[in-house]
Amino acid sequence: MALRNIRVLGDEILTKKAKEVKAVTPHIKELVDDMFDTMYEANGVGLAAPQIGVLKRIVVIDCGDQPLVLINPQILETSGEQTGQEGCLSVPGKVGEVTRPLHVKASAFDIDMNEYTIEADDLLARCICHELDHLEGVVYVDKVEGELYDVSDEAEEIDE
Ligand code: NI
Repeated sequence: MALRNIRVLGDEILTKKAKEVKAVTPHIKELVDDMFDTMYEANGVGLAAPQIGVLKRIVVIDCGDQPLVLINPQILETSGEQTGQEGCLSVPGKVGEVTRPLHVKASAFDIDMNEYTIEADDLLARCICHELDHLEGVVYVDKVEGELYDVSDEAEEIDE
């Protein structure tokens, strides 16, 4: 198990576009393992490689159902709308309201470089959109409606 440092808002790497993964090498597998370790340690539900300083199109997500690895992910379809609280491991202690699609269909490659599609609703749909934004150099604070506010004890925290 290896933890990586999570980059925080203000770090230029969070504004950069990540590059496609050509092949899953042992180095990439180690990176993905470290991403899961880092995400779980920080009590997050999603993490994108740029958040640990690696400009590759890799995302890990665990919203409670099962751990997901998304390599070179692409959103194929979206529908509906949800507005709700969102946070980010790169913006510690803050949350804000963001509107996202309610349903998302996406394609990605898994850790064995097999392509798959995933259909997601609710929190998982929100999480996929949030993490894919990171691959484009976009942090959710650019999409917040109103102000960012401090996480309170009562608030339900969703860190991605
Ligand atoms: Ni995030």
